[in-house]
Amino acid sequence: MSTVIAERTDKLAEGKTKIIWASGDQYEVLIESKDDITAGDGAKHDTLEGKAVAATTTTCNVFELINRAGHVPTHFLTQVDERTFRARACHMIPIEVVARRIAYGSYLKRNPEVTKGTMFRHLVLEMFHKNDAAHDPFMVYNEAERSFNLYDAKQPVGPTTLQGVMPATDLDPNHVTLMRLGAAAVFLQLEKALSDQHIQLVDLKVEFGFDKETGQLRLADVVDNDSWRIWPYGQEHEMLDKQVYRDLNASDEEARAAAMAKIGGNYREVAVLSGRMLGCGQGCGCRN
Ligand SMILES: Nc1ncnc2c1ncn2[C@@H]1O[C@H](COP(=O)(O)OP(=O)(O)OP(=O)(O)O)[C@@H](O)[C@H]1O
Ligand SMILES: [Mg+2]
Repeated sequence: MSTVIAERTDKLAEGKTKIIWASGDQYEVLIESKDDITAGDGAKHDTLEGKAVAATTTTCNVFELINRAGHVPTHFLTQVDERTFRARACHMIPIEVVARRIAYGSYLKRNPEVTKGTMFRHLVLEMFHKNDAAHDPFMVYNEAERSFNLYDAKQPVGPTTLQGVMPATDLDPNHVTLMRLGAAAVFLQLEKALSDQHIQLVDLKVEFGFDKETGQLRLADVVDNDSWRIWPYGQEHEMLDKQVYRDLNASDEEARAAAMAKIGGNYREVAVLSGRMLGCGQGCGCRN
C-alpha cells in the first residue's frame, strides 16, 4: 500500500482511535487509525505500535467482504494507505448496535439469570447510546413515542435502573429496524466467514450514519478487532480480540510489556485472518 495522498491539514474530528480528515470532496472523508487502544470508555489507555496498520487492514477487509455481498450499504470506498481508508461522509447516529451469539460481557450483568457462554439460537440484538460520560446506557426503543428509554447497562432493565428518556424524532422507526437488520446481516456474514477458519464470532458492535449527500443509511465507522469478540475453536481462553486488553491487569512492568506484545501479535494475526476471509492465501492479509 504505497499510494501517496495529499498532506492532511483539514482535521474534521478526532476520537480515541481515529482521525477524520477532509478528502477534498465534501461528501467523502479519510479515516486514519491511531495506535491507541482504550477500554472502559477511555479510562484505560495505551499506545500499541502497529495497531493502526492492523486495524486498517482488518476494517478494510471486513468492509470489502460486506460490500461484495451487497446486502448492507456501507460508507467504505477504498483503502488509501496502510493506516487510512476513504469513506462516504456520514452524519453519525450515536448508537452502537450489538449482535450476540453467545452470552458474555455486559449482557450477563443485565441478565444475571443467564449462564456465561450460553449460545443463542436466535441472535440477540441490542442498542447502546454512545455516551462515554454516562457509560453507554442500554436503549429500549419505544416506537409509539419515538423515543428511547435509557437504562444502566450494567444492571437488569427495570424501573429502578431507568436513567432517562431520549427523544428520537429525527430517527424514523424504519431506520431503527434497518440498523437491527443490518447488524444481524453483518453478524451472520462474518460468523460464516470466520467459522470457515474455525473461529467463533461471539458478539459484534456496529455503528451507522446517514450519507451526507444522499441521506442513505449506511454501516459506518469501523469493524475491526475492537468491534467483536472472536474465539478460535470456540475456546474463550484463545480469544484474539480487545477483551485480552480489557482483562489486562499485570502488576509489574515486565509482565505488562509481555502482555502488550502478545496483544499486538493478536491484532496482526486478526489482520491476516481478515484477508483470508476474502480469499488471501498468502498470509499477508491482502485483498487479492
Ligand atoms: N463515515 C464517517 N463520516 C463521518 N464521521 C465518521 C464516519 N465514520 C466514523 N466517524 C466518526 O469518527 C469519529 C472518530 O472515531 P473514534 O472511534 O476515534 O471516536 P471515539 O473517541 O471512539 O468516539 P466515539 O465514541 O464517537 O466512537 C467518531 O465520532 C465516529 O463517529
Ligand atoms: Mg469509536
